Amino acid sequence: MSMKQPNGFRVVVTGKGGVGKTTLTACLSRLLSERGINVLAADEDPQMNLPYALGLPLEKAAAIVPLNRNHDYIEEKTGVRPGKSFGSMFRLNPRVDDVVKRFGVQVDENLNLLVMGTVVQAAAGCLCSENVLLDSVMSHLSLREGEAILLDTQAGVEHFGRALAEGFSQCLVVTDTSFNALAVARHAAELARQSGIGRIHLVVNRRKEDGSRKLTELLELTGTDLSNLFDGVHSLPLEPRFEELEPNVTRILQEESGYVSGLIAIAEEMLAFENDRGNAS
Ligand SMILES: Nc1ncnc2c1ncn2[C@@H]1O[C@H](COP(=O)(O)OP(=O)(O)OP(=O)(O)O)[C@@H](O)[C@H]1O
Ligand SMILES: [Mg+2]
Repeated sequence: MSMKQPNGFRVVVTGKGGVGKTTLTACLSRLLSERGINVLAADEDPQMNLPYALGLPLEKAAAIVPLNRNHDYIEEKTGVRPGKSFGSMFRLNPRVDDVVKRFGVQVDENLNLLVMGTVVQAAAGCLCSENVLLDSVMSHLSLREGEAILLDTQAGVEHFGRALAEGFSQCLVVTDTSFNALAVARHAAELARQSGIGRIHLVVNRRKEDGSRKLTELLELTGTDLSNLFDGVHSLPLEPRFEELEPNVTRILQEESGYVSGLIAIAEEMLAFENDRGNAS
């Protein structure tokens, strides 16, 4: 995959709980970084699984303080200390270009990790300084050519209700072949479309040998029309080796497998889309 460096791009990974979002984000981050993209893998899940999936040493991973707990930084950037929002004025869209240097964890040569943490929303549309900061980091961190952000999210679709989903050019909606996961995938795709994301991929994970008939049946049941909802459909096979590799699942890339070929196909399609966008503009 030697191609011209794409313009900076952002990808959000979403889907129901347990479908394989973190595993996919970690493996894809490493794959893209090995192919010369400068990747920022960002974790928006309060459970903070991504550092372990990327293979950070356990002590190093456990010592990470998520960005939303860095109250001094939040105050410095937004003008408001977390918890002190009433009556104060926020600096919206603060400059956050120093965030990776100050809080990023280097995983590998072209791979950095930023653990965002998640703010529990008190009410719809609640504006608190933690949210302002996290949304700014995701939407306004300026990216240079050949740079990419991959955001692993918490299960569900709440993040689409916030400015967080702004500025993403692509969305990977992960599902397995279960009714509930497909129903969430469908909802996520609709929300991703509404937030203006240019390319929405469905990734059917843990594909079983004989799974296609079942999948077709479930798509019908959930009213999921693939061609209208998704710009591309990929699948990744059930990979029994993850069980022995955990938590450092990116080691899967060390040998060829169906999962790795599937990842390469996803990466190539993402890069092709970014290159097309680049040529069009
Ligand atoms: N293709 C696959 N084959 C087999 N096991 C897989 C596959 N993809 C992921 N898994 C396993 O499924 C489990 C859940 O994966 P993962 O943590 O990536 O899901 P998630 O969507 O991020 O979950 P959560 O919603 O809790 O954040 C893990 O044990 C992981 O190793
Ligand atoms: Mg996860």
